[in-house]
Amino acid sequence: MAGGLPISSPLGTIYSTNITSSKRYGIGNYTLKQFAQALRQGVRADGAHLYPAMPYASYSLLVDDDVKALHTYFTQAVAPVDRPSTTKTDLPFPYNMRFSMMAWNALFAGGKPYTPDPAKSAEWNRGKYLVEGAAHCAECHTPRGFFMQQDRSKAFGGAVLGSWYAPNISSDPVAGIGAMSADELFQYLKAGKVKGKAQAGGEMGLAVEMSFSKLTDRDLRAIVSYIRDLPPIADASLTKPKFAQGQPYTEVSKFRGVGDVSSDNALAGGPAQLFAANCASCHGVRAEGSLDGYFPSLFHNSALTTGGGRNLVATILFGLSRKGADGLAFMPGFGGKATDIAAFSDDEVAELANYLLRHYGDASIAVTPQLVAEVRAGRAPKPALATLVDIGKWAFPVFLILFVLWRRARRSRAKARIASVAA
Ligand code: HEC
Ligand code: HEC
Repeated sequence: MAGGLPISSPLGTIYSTNITSSKRYGIGNYTLKQFAQALRQGVRADGAHLYPAMPYASYSLLVDDDVKALHTYFTQAVAPVDRPSTTKTDLPFPYNMRFSMMAWNALFAGGKPYTPDPAKSAEWNRGKYLVEGAAHCAECHTPRGFFMQQDRSKAFGGAVLGSWYAPNISSDPVAGIGAMSADELFQYLKAGKVKGKAQAGGEMGLAVEMSFSKLTDRDLRAIVSYIRDLPPIADASLTKPKFAQGQPYTEVSKFRGVGDVSSDNALAGGPAQLFAANCASCHGVRAEGSLDGYFPSLFHNSALTTGGGRNLVATILFGLSRKGADGLAFMPGFGGKATDIAAFSDDEVAELANYLLRHYGDASIAVTPQLVAEVRAGRAPKPALATLVDIGKWAFPVFLILFVLWRRARRSRAKARIASVAA
């Protein structure tokens, strides 16, 4: 809880802060009222506004008893870490004006503590309370509108998240997770994987490891019951369910006996060799995975059918490391950071990804080296609002200069006229 975790936003990187019980650097001095205000309204004890990267819009649903319990936990049970966060959020103008969040909050935040829907079961209500509140699933899985607010008309329809893509988890059987059974969804949240369908990497791996794997089975069942009841968000571009695309395939006989296959010379043989040299040892020659499912098959795998290939690219670059309820899942990254495994260039990653998509995933998805560079840098596409603000930022000073010049020209012309009249 000592802070410093980078959270990428399309406007820049926002760093989490120290929320240990440290009285100097954390929130050890926060009264219950101040704590509740930060949690539900996004306002710090010193009155400054938090960025919505802290999901206070979701936490506004938390009921008083839970806020009180959290306050007790944070101020009494979380050990103090007496140092400031080493990193500080420094967004560029105009996003550094925190008070602008007041307008955003007035429009898009400020929900009320949850009140159960009497027409629904207690389990469903518990699920909704957790999903929309504490677990804030929608903050990642719902696409954003013009003002970067959640676009609730596409609730849980999938959204880009820095390097990763949080897929459509609505009940649509083709684009969403309608084809996952209740048990499978339960297992995904508890352990981070469903054999032959999906595994949790990136932000979701973190969420499973740090949070969802710690929930009681009862709460997980409640979440599953609510999620499976979400209205379907369809995607016309998908023709086949995302967990049913691709099939076993190999070209290895083509280059068997032709020469060594190693990560160093793999590209000479094209993407099929790149796969054989770097991936097949774990995922299988025909990408069928291992029998026990520890190494997933790459066909029938949502990473190869959603989000324009973003999670496929992110997995190749960064790998995956997640401690779930069933132990450690680990894959090395090939992006040239963290391990000494051969680093792939953007072109190599794109070529490999397209080969995999063609044979094992959604063949209509095409990955460009530009996308790979974007994922490598953790950049999400810029929202329209940011583009507008960028234009405005440049246009305003240019306008000001032109205005001053015009005024000067007018004044000197007027002076000249007065001079000529006087003469
Ligand atoms: C911090 C962001 C974040 C939060 C919070 C989050 N998710 Fe995810 N979720 C992701 C990302 C990113 C992926 C893709 C992971 C991958 O494929 O490796 C994902 C994947 C999934 C998948 C698999 C879908 C598929 O097609 O493969 C399910 C199901 C899911 N999330 C459910 C949930 C539920 C339910 C919650 C709340 C209890 C939740 N998520 C909260 C980011 C998030
Ligand atoms: C050392 C073994 C190993 C190697 C080598 C390896 N992987 Fe993996 N891979 C794994 C494991 C383990 C998982 C995760 C299983 C889990 O999440 O439970 C995984 C997961 C994946 C996923 C799913 C990620 C997601 O978020 O849904 C993809 C896609 C993938 N690997 C592609 C590749 C490609 C492409 C290569 C070669 C460049 C490769 N892997 C090399 C072990 C490996």
